[in-house]
Amino acid sequence: MPDFPASDFPAGGVPPQPQPNDGSRRSFMKQAGGILGLALAPPLVAQAERLTAYSKTVEGVTALQLKINGTVRTIQAEPRVTLLDALREYMDLTGTKKGCDHGQCGACTVHVDGRRINSCLTLAVMQQGKEITTIEGLAKGDELHPMQEAFLKHDGFQCGYCTPGQIMSGVACVKEGHAGSDDQTREWMSGNLCRCGAYPNIVAAVREVAGKA
Ligand code: FES
Ligand code: FES
Repeated sequence: MPDFPASDFPAGGVPPQPQPNDGSRRSFMKQAGGILGLALAPPLVAQAERLTAYSKTVEGVTALQLKINGTVRTIQAEPRVTLLDALREYMDLTGTKKGCDHGQCGACTVHVDGRRINSCLTLAVMQQGKEITTIEGLAKGDELHPMQEAFLKHDGFQCGYCTPGQIMSGVACVKEGHAGSDDQTREWMSGNLCRCGAYPNIVAAVREVAGKA
């Protein structure tokens, strides 16, 4: 959200509404009508109709193929199913947690093609053909990922609910080069909330893996 100097706003802090040039509501409505008319001009309407005709509608239960932790899995699900629900409800990969289901807590963080995303904010159907890594795919057999080890060592969790998302985000944070300092780590991990307040220990774990201990 851009910062506006308080002096730009009238009392009450409400930004001013755009005003018509000559101050008359009637001419303003005329201008607005002109713009709307332009938007609905025949060439644009025709183009919109063409695009609609070409767009493929996917409806009902469909076979979705997802590459999770190196294995391709097929599920039967509706296209509206989120990646988070596909993981938890259709594949029993319950390590990825559902916190807010609105992209605000980071509990559902997974990696897609090496980048961290909130799996509650994307549809499974959109992630077909991509490499998806969940917390279950981080360890190599019995050998934990260094970030998992560091979380254990530094007690980076209390109830543990947010932990899978924190670990996935921590791994990505180090890989992205965004763990250069504690402040930078806090900034780049700020999408992951922990209600138990394990923040300092989480930062300590990321610091260790980033080699800044
Ligand atoms: S469950 Fe996805 S961000 Fe909270
Ligand atoms: S450890 Fe409980 S929410 Fe983070």
